[in-house]
Amino acid sequence: MKSIVILISGRGSNMQAILEADLPVRVAAVISNKPDAAGLEIARRHGVPTQVVNHRDYDDREAFDKALAAGIDTFSPDLVVLAGFMRILTTGFVHDYNGRLINIHPSLLPAFSGLNTHVRALAEGVKIHGCTAHFVTPSLDKGPIISQAAVPVLPGDTEDTLAERVLEQEHIIYPQAIRWFAEGRLSITRNGNVILQNQKSAEIALRSPWEAQ
Ligand code: GRF
Repeated sequence: MKSIVILISGRGSNMQAILEADLPVRVAAVISNKPDAAGLEIARRHGVPTQVVNHRDYDDREAFDKALAAGIDTFSPDLVVLAGFMRILTTGFVHDYNGRLINIHPSLLPAFSGLNTHVRALAEGVKIHGCTAHFVTPSLDKGPIISQAAVPVLPGDTEDTLAERVLEQEHIIYPQAIRWFAEGRLSITRNGNVILQNQKSAEIALRSPWEAQ
């Protein structure tokens, strides 16, 4: 069975969705860069070993990333899963985990890369927003896209209501992306696009929260 290490910085709701999704993976550890991340307690409750690599203990990004990699590598994971991990990683780190490092981003990439995606989506007046599971490459939020889910932006939405609608979808598509990885079904083309092998029609059906309302 493939093993994964999950990196968090805070609440850990995506991590929790992964832990509770009954995936064909072993979660070897959850590592946080913040000692007080709420997700650490959730991980412990699920019986998952936790580790803290506090970025404040290191002089620069290189030193922190080196310590983080050392922590990760003690578990020899097949996949490293960023789940609300709020540190920019160095190019060297990303290269070392090439093809086995994924992230969930709260927008329909390539729109709204970076921070404060929901506020920016509201400010632009977009009518459709969403989330993206993607492989991580050195350029921020630009890696090969594994899957996406769209949600409507509704009249009267605030940052919080929109974030909540998007988060619900994150909790669906991120575990699914990990399942696909674990099943060995994801490959990246030379152009940097992801192909899902043996894709069933149900897996490409557009998830439509419109129908649920
Ligand atoms: C999520 O919205 C994720 O997309 C973003 O940070 C947030 C983390 O939330 N990268 P949680 O810690 O998983 O609850």
